[in-house]
Amino acid sequence: MKLGEPLQLGGHRLRNRVVMPPMERNNGTPDGRVTDRYIDYLRARAAGGTALVFTEATYVRADGRGRVRQLGAAGDHIVPGLRALADAVHAEGALLGVELNHAGRVADPAVAGSQLYTEPCSGSW
Ligand SMILES: Cc1cc2nc3c(=O)[nH]c(=O)nc-3n(C[C@H](O)[C@H](O)[C@H](O)COP(=O)(O)O)c2cc1C
Repeated sequence: MKLGEPLQLGGHRLRNRVVMPPMERNNGTPDGRVTDRYIDYLRARAAGGTALVFTEATYVRADGRGRVRQLGAAGDHIVPGLRALADAVHAEGALLGVELNHAGRVADPAVAGSQLYTEPCSGSW
């Protein structure tokens, strides 16, 4: 049984072989930014001993998002939150993976077609 043994993955060392797969949470802001709630969620999984935790499917273009409050990786306004998320996971000794995603034909036009979600927004989430 090697589950608890470290694993070298390219240039990265996993402390064990426990990986949390991408799971939709919809805890982003309407413009795709990371929320404190989402950071707390992934930090807790890292603190629990998981070696590698993945974000939910994270859209790479505004027209490829499939869900309201989906985490995004499209736009400079999103970068600081992703940095904070990575720092939180790293502080617990785990690595962070980001699942890059374009929803393709299942992208919801009601969401993807709206300019409302392509600009940074204010407010606390
Ligand atoms: C609530 C929920 C949300 C999920 N969201 C995603 C997702 O965002 N991206 C993805 O690739 N898979 C997603 N999945 C699939 C999981 O990553 C995983 O592949 C699936 O649960 C099967 O895992 P298993 O073979 O270890 O049981 C989701 C699964 C669940 C239960």
